[in-house]
Amino acid sequence: MDKFVIEGGVPLHGTISTNGSKNSALPALAAALLTDEEVVLERIPRVRDIRTMERLLVDIGSEIVVDEGDSERVVLNTKTIVSPEAPYELVKTMRASSLVLGPLVARAGRARVSLPGGCAIGARPINFHLAGLEHLGARIAQEHGYIEAVAPDGLKGAHVVFDRITVTGTEDILMAAVLADGESVLENAAREPEVVDLAHLLRKMGARIEGEGTSVIRVQGVAKLHGATHEIIADRIEAGTFVIAAAITGGDVCVTRCVPEHLGALTAKLAEAGVTVTQVDDTTLRVERRNGTLLPVDMTTEEYPGFATDLQAQYMALMTQANGISIITETIFENRFMHAQELMRMGANIRVDGRQAIVAGPSRLTGAGVIASDLRASASLVLAALVAKGETVIDRVYHIDRGYEKIEAKLSAAGAKIRRVE
Ligand code: EPZ
Repeated sequence: MDKFVIEGGVPLHGTISTNGSKNSALPALAAALLTDEEVVLERIPRVRDIRTMERLLVDIGSEIVVDEGDSERVVLNTKTIVSPEAPYELVKTMRASSLVLGPLVARAGRARVSLPGGCAIGARPINFHLAGLEHLGARIAQEHGYIEAVAPDGLKGAHVVFDRITVTGTEDILMAAVLADGESVLENAAREPEVVDLAHLLRKMGARIEGEGTSVIRVQGVAKLHGATHEIIADRIEAGTFVIAAAITGGDVCVTRCVPEHLGALTAKLAEAGVTVTQVDDTTLRVERRNGTLLPVDMTTEEYPGFATDLQAQYMALMTQANGISIITETIFENRFMHAQELMRMGANIRVDGRQAIVAGPSRLTGAGVIASDLRASASLVLAALVAKGETVIDRVYHIDRGYEKIEAKLSAAGAKIRRVE
């Protein structure tokens, strides 16, 4: 199992470029199941979760050609659905596998998808996906740990109100609704940029969608979708992680190929904390914190356009260096503070009380052996290690490989002393 060895104390300088979004690429890949024509996706990050999704699609019946060069292009062709199934072996390693549910029922009239089971950051059930499909006329049964969804006569357009905002739930039902007969209205839909990106791809494939990016999405079902070419948006969570890396090390970094607008909640907090963030052009943010004191700023995670839960752990690492007490409230997942314990092993002063973490800074962090528990928790440990005195060894970095492509190379190029060891 790989580890990262990080020697802290170097302010980052230079340019770090952003990859395509993992959480946009995953539904885009699943959307290719909706047509028997060729779908070409560009800027697909070469991270582990994407490989898992590609493996799943090949088992289902897709032919996939991957170009790992600069375009990071993936060409998908699904002439026939051979096996409309997502097995436990894959779903247990990646919950986003449930994104094939909607497309499979819509295209093949049938899907068999393993229930995901427990997760490091919370219960994360898929009941809203299932309720949405039922509204669209699918019959759902559960047996042997699997969900069986069938709609032999096709799906029917319907009014679906999500009990709670769900990102992949909105994406799953949107992908089902585009091939349903008649109009569907999705209310309390997620407004995340990844949902908008999916709607753009589906529209290129011939879908009739309005209202993406708002909480009400209207879909006029069509009989058939066709092939399309689409470039995935920038990964706002990866970009946000680099923005925080610059801030925590007291560096001066340009984060390029990102969408500054998607990072509004983060950059607003950083400005309050005393970090200078400037938009250089449409796709570049410059982050500077040279010798400046960092101020403590409370933060509550929310659905987009609020502060992303996927940046909460990284923000907590930053607040360990702020001059005073900050309160971080997690509202999306019930168990997403696993990183706090590891940060404390490095010398942070954090008290977790239910859904709140009270961080008292500034702490002098020191290098230690720590264990990554999930993707974003791992990122926060990397950030803490970049300012810790001495050497930090982060175990189980396969978690970080799920969502960050070559993070050690990107950070090294900006001066960080980080290396991967087997
Ligand atoms: C997406 O997960 C992201 N994953 C997550 O990114 C992200 O943390 C999350 O949205 C929140 O922004 C992908 O896009 C692939 P939700 P998702 O459904 O869709 C509850 C990362 O680090 N809920 O919006 O699974 C759920 O338990 C990851 O890249 C139900 O109760 O999240 C949670 O409390 C991890 N029933 C809340 O809703 C359901 O049927 C929001 O979850 C669905 C969700």
